[in-house]
Order: sequence, then C-alpha cells, then structure tokens
Amino acid sequence: MFSNTDTITITRPDDWHLHLRDGAVLDSVVADTARQFARAIIMPNLKPPVINTAQALAYRDRIRAALDRASIEQAAFTPLMTLYLTDNTSAQEVLTASESAAVHGIKLYPAGATTNSDAGVTDLLGRCAKALEAMQRLGMPLLVHGEVTDPAIDLFDREAVFIDRVMIPLRREFPELKVVFEHLTTREGVDYVRQAQGPVAATITAHHLLYNRNALFQGGIRPHWYCLPVLKRETHRQALLDAATGQSDRFFLGTDSAPHPKGLKEHACGCAGCYTALHAMELYATAFESVGRLDRLEAFASLNGPAFYGLPVNQGKLTLQRQPYSIPEELPMADSSVVPLAAGESLGWKALA
Ligand code: DOR
Ligand code: ZN
Repeated sequence: MFSNTDTITITRPDDWHLHLRDGAVLDSVVADTARQFARAIIMPNLKPPVINTAQALAYRDRIRAALDRASIEQAAFTPLMTLYLTDNTSAQEVLTASESAAVHGIKLYPAGATTNSDAGVTDLLGRCAKALEAMQRLGMPLLVHGEVTDPAIDLFDREAVFIDRVMIPLRREFPELKVVFEHLTTREGVDYVRQAQGPVAATITAHHLLYNRNALFQGGIRPHWYCLPVLKRETHRQALLDAATGQSDRFFLGTDSAPHPKGLKEHACGCAGCYTALHAMELYATAFESVGRLDRLEAFASLNGPAFYGLPVNQGKLTLQRQPYSIPEELPMADSSVVPLAAGESLGWKALA
C-alpha cells in the first residue's frame, strides 16, 4: 500500500458478496462494480434462483454480455459465480460445480430469511448432509446468510441465535468445511469467527461499519438504510470496525450491494438492501479512517479474501484521493432508478477511474 495524506493506492480490491440481479438492470450495476473491483462473488438469489452449474454459466454469460455493452473489457472484471443451496442440491451437482472452475461457493439462505429466499434450505443438516460432505471434500465454500427465520426470535437476535442453532452444529459435523459467515453484523458473530477452529471467515459490509440502527429512524423512517441482516446497536458496529481493521485475516470486504428500484424501497413494505456498488471503496475508506486505520484497508479489501478463497491477489491498483464527493440522489437503473446509500451526502474520498 502507498499512502500520503491525500491519496491511498492499494492492490485492486474484490467484492466477496454482491447482488448484480439480472436482465436490463445488469448493465448499470455491473458497470458500477467493475469501476472499483476486479472480481466479485455473485449472489444466486435470482427469480428463479441459480441452483445448478448450467444456470450459473448462463448467468455468467449474461453478465459478460452486459460488460460488453458497457464497453468494459472482460479481463477487467471477473464474476465469480455461486449456486443457491436447496434441500435437493446433490453431491453430483457440487462436483459439477467444483469441476466447472466457474463456481466459487454455494450459498445457504435459510428459507424465508430474505429477498428471494423461498427456495432456501428448510433443515440444513437433515436435508443437505450429502451436499455438505461433498463441499467439505472438494474445498467448495459454504456462504452463509446467518440468520434464523423463527418468527419467535427477535429480529435483532437472529444472527446470535443462528450461531447456536446452525453454525455450531454444522461445524461439529463438518469441521473442515470452508464457511464464510456473510455480512456479519454482531459482536457475537465477530467473537465466533475469531475463535472458531478451522476454515471460517466473514464478510463485512460498508453500511454495517458506518451505521448503527439509529440510522434507520433518523428524522423519520429511512428505507434506504434497511437491509438484512438489519443494522444493529452501536456496540456491534464497534466490534465490526475492530474486526475489519484488526490483525485477523478472517475478515474481508463484501458490500452486499443489493439494488432495488426506488419505488420498491420507498414503499409500504419496502425491500431489504442497500445500494453501495457505486461508492463502495469511498464508504469503506471513510469507515477505516474514522478509527485511524486506513493502513489496514488493503488487507481487508484486497488480500484476505483471495487468501481464503485460494485465488491469486489482483495485479492492478486502485487509488483513492482525498476530495469532497457528493453522492448522487439517484441513478438510472433500467426503466427505473436506484437510490444509493447516503444519497445526497458528502464523503471525503473519491476513487480515481
Ligand atoms: O438486504 C439484503 N438484500 N439482504 C439480503 O440478504 C438480500 C439482499 C437482496 O437480495 O436484496
Ligand atoms: Zn446479500
């Protein structure tokens, strides 16, 4: 990493948790991500979900076509595909995915946990043991949406309860399975990942580093701060900042940028998801600078993720410059628009093109 007070240059980063969607919206959202990141783990929660390798390869082709339409060279951005785990995912499908070299993880959505998760898993150890065994054997990571869906559990406690009810039993059965605890949001989650034996890591979003749950209600209800897992108390944000900027290589960048059309966010039953692809590295730099740890940004954004996934570190660089940057109020997205997180506010860093 090179830095002086006005610029930081780091190895080109990757986004280890991204929603690109499909169809006409792909064009603008993939271009936003490719401006900052060399690779991204592409979430499979489309309608219908991406449940096999053939579908993942076809989705990758549609992403590549969108890159072409945006005049972005294929070499500049690599989509790392994932499958959506279902009760019926077979060991053979895991093998096919592994041999494809295109699929880099299989995502666990507990059924009903979030956007397009209806086809998710109802009973992980009961229904998916053969797939999990194959994943462990082949080194295929399980990417986890770590929240229980039990309506009796308070929304703010669902990650902590997931650790007890799902993570601990899962890792007792499959101690060598690679697991990424996606979009970690709690102190309990940080403590669990830090002390876990075996190959466990976690992604952390920019919004969970920058905001606590007060942001949802500041001056009125603010749907653009609503995501799942929901923002938590300040003590949890502090634990996440500590983890992201600390010495452990188990924590790395995953934006969970999740675009929804403006009208479906500003709605009586608004969708979960914050759009951060446009300004991800500026948001992360702001969070790291808030605790005087810009020196740790490169490890978090560019080094720890490839090490866990067993991929090479990127060759290119990304430079951030200290300059005022006004976040646009909204951006065109297909025949609608998307409101980026913290729209209309100003940041102190700008990524150079
Ligand atoms: O806020 C979220 N939005 N959390 C998720 O887990 C899914 C995502 C989406 O796809 O919109
Ligand atoms: Zn997500």
